Amino acid sequence: MKEQESLVQVKNLKTHFFTEEGVVKAVDGVDFEIFSGETLGIVGESGCGKSVTALSIMGLVESPPGEIVEGEINFAGQDLTELSEDEMRKIRGNDIAMIFQEPMTSLNPVYTVGDQISESLILHENLSKKEARDRAIELLERVGIPLPGQRVE
Ligand SMILES: Nc1ncnc2c1ncn2[C@@H]1O[C@H](COP(=O)(O)OP(=O)(O)OP(=O)(O)O)[C@@H](O)[C@H]1O
Ligand SMILES: [Mg+2]
Repeated sequence: MKEQESLVQVKNLKTHFFTEEGVVKAVDGVDFEIFSGETLGIVGESGCGKSVTALSIMGLVESPPGEIVEGEINFAGQDLTELSEDEMRKIRGNDIAMIFQEPMTSLNPVYTVGDQISESLILHENLSKKEARDRAIELLERVGIPLPGQRVE
């Protein structure tokens, strides 16, 4: 059963890149809404703007050259495009997270699975190293990873 609470509304989102060769309209008028408990898949050919849409929501579009030139990203009663970097940092990793493309470059193979999960818990939830490790094991267990105590290592 789908819950009816609307969580995210993206309205007429336009994210453009201002390059020396001209303006790249990577995202040019995207609209969608996500409800609580709902999963939305966005499909499209390479370069059509899926990642730039996600990066826009996260407030991680590199500027310059990128800029959200129009539109709204409403989440929990506020327009994310209007928030300061400090306000956005509180939301990122707590309420909205992103698994980046190409895990071989965004996840450092030198760190264990436990370290990777603990890092955001230490930063965002102020947990100690030990608390974060225990919580990481608990989270792995919750999503059905066998032997989570070993997997964190
Ligand atoms: N920094 C940038 N400067 C100029 N253009 C950019 C920049 N970053 C992304 N783009 C362009 O924005 C467009 C959308 O890219 P995006 O990465 O969102 O595509 P995608 O749908 O995620 O593709 P894929 O399926 O390959 O991951 C592409 O044309 C890309 O070249
Ligand atoms: Mg992509």
